[in-house]
Amino acid sequence: MCGIVGYIGPRDATPIILNGLKRLEYRGYDSAGLAVLQDGVIEVRRNAGKLARLVSLVEQSPVSGQVGIGHTRWATHGEPSTRNAHPHVGETGEVVVVHNGIVENFLELRDELSAEGVNFSSETDTEVIVQLLDRYLGAGCNLVEAAGNTLAVLKGAHGIVMFSSREPDKIVAARIGNAGGVVIGKGEGEMFVASDIPAILEHTRQMIFLESGQMAVVMRETVDVQELNGTRVDYEVHTVSWDPVSAEKGEYRHFMEKEIHEQVRSLTDTIAGRVDFDKMSIRLGQLNLTPELAKRVQKMVIIACGTAANAGGVGKVLIERIARLPVEVDIASEFRYRDPIVDEQTVVLAISQSGETADTLAAMAEARQKGAVLWSIVNAIGSQAMRIADGYISMQTGPEIGVASTKAYTAPLVDLYMLAVHLADMREILNDKSRRQLIADLRLIPDLVGRCLDREGQVKDVAYALKDVAHCLYLGRGINMPTAYEGALKLKEISYIHAEGYPAGEMKHGPIALIDEDMPVVVIAPRDPWYEKMLSQVEQAKARGGIVIAVATDGDDRIANIADHVLWVPETPWLLGPVTTIIPLQLLAYHIAALRGLDVDQPRNLAKSVTVE
Ligand code: G6P
Repeated sequence: MCGIVGYIGPRDATPIILNGLKRLEYRGYDSAGLAVLQDGVIEVRRNAGKLARLVSLVEQSPVSGQVGIGHTRWATHGEPSTRNAHPHVGETGEVVVVHNGIVENFLELRDELSAEGVNFSSETDTEVIVQLLDRYLGAGCNLVEAAGNTLAVLKGAHGIVMFSSREPDKIVAARIGNAGGVVIGKGEGEMFVASDIPAILEHTRQMIFLESGQMAVVMRETVDVQELNGTRVDYEVHTVSWDPVSAEKGEYRHFMEKEIHEQVRSLTDTIAGRVDFDKMSIRLGQLNLTPELAKRVQKMVIIACGTAANAGGVGKVLIERIARLPVEVDIASEFRYRDPIVDEQTVVLAISQSGETADTLAAMAEARQKGAVLWSIVNAIGSQAMRIADGYISMQTGPEIGVASTKAYTAPLVDLYMLAVHLADMREILNDKSRRQLIADLRLIPDLVGRCLDREGQVKDVAYALKDVAHCLYLGRGINMPTAYEGALKLKEISYIHAEGYPAGEMKHGPIALIDEDMPVVVIAPRDPWYEKMLSQVEQAKARGGIVIAVATDGDDRIANIADHVLWVPETPWLLGPVTTIIPLQLLAYHIAALRGLDVDQPRNLAKSVTVE
């Protein structure tokens, strides 16, 4: 999804912007551009395609100056072409804009401006923003006034960053709604603006996050934040602790590969500080959970999209089993339009790696409006989903760059487990022995995940055998039903092989018709309460000639005798089973995609963070 970087200060803005955009490449984009104020004139360089093309363009036609903005665009209105790439300048060339989001009333605004004689040079919705700014500047407004007037007529959600050659001492940035974040990085005599922290993290850790409806005037030495109506806002400066090196690829071929291998570390961090193994207790301080709330709550609704929703599916089993609280899992884009039945007795828990997914944020707003208690599990510190919640758990995985989520899937599984135990404890339904056992099991997790990763060689062999298949069916049951969904999602996202996850018990009601010698069936069958049922599933698939790949517990001869391939996982307490069973499936998807020579980290048509509806 679109990325923004801006700079104002004594250094040359061009390399800072190009470098920042590079760090946002993972979000997915189809064109890129920058605008820099050079000798009082706004110079724009932009291109369809990858950032490398923009870098060559800037080499051929250099540009430098001390204020500038850049953008990677993911097309919404208008094809991915050079003329539709951001930044956009108005007719006078005196103001320039980059934009994330969609101007919902752009056709009306465009007609209005065209009727006034404005000539548009792109098909984008964004261009109406800059033409409106031009109009207000022409009428005598300063940049802040022009921005305020323009923002007031735009419908939809936006992150907008702009500057004007008339006022070269400032960048103006605004956020309306949930079209991704706007963060300002404070340096010494210089300032940075970005849609995401990794873009500017190498320069500063001091960050100001704009809330919806706020506009910032960013100058070399100062940042002023105001509401759109001009009221000044006291803001907080957050210190972000992410390590910039952890956002680099290191020894791995792809970020996804690196992130799969980081899970021992990310899960260690997820548990550290939350679990007191001496007292056998769990602390989730930022959740603000009181015993009164734990006893009052009647149900939980988990809302999320994509991989995060699959993690929610595991959370349902955990929270119902351990805390005896009914849980529904809802796809965020469905929840918000269904007039959902939630009230003050309901906890709505949003799960989101980015904390900026538009559908998830809109669902949270719906829940808030209905009076529910709002919690979130997020990875991106300072993100909207963290800020608007009544309480949150932060994932502790560090930045995830690969579009296909891996470490931001397993971390929330462990967070949900800890939440279930904590909730059960507060609801006084756990006896001491069970609590101790549940907490003690957590300690095993990093090592068990490490042992799964050690078997990568076996997974590579299976990947080699499957790399040319056209379809693949994933079956799971109970707590591993979401593992089937997630395994299939990983494969389809990055290898473009058609893959379906299915509840295993439903196979006989339809998908069984698909099974023949060309249909590989991945069966998730560790030794858990659904094991016997899964075993019969393996037999049914084999009886119809299917190629069976089983995820099974070490030493399981029964499975080994019938399956064509086995992806072994170490024995894991079953409530934590999905944390280990997904590892070989992540590796399988990764190696198949890598063998097919595909762009694993930036699969076609996908974006890391989907900030439009
Ligand atoms: C996009 C990504 C998925 C991700 C989903 C939800 O579709 O490609 O990998 O699971 O968004 O993202 P979130 O940041 O809310 O977890």
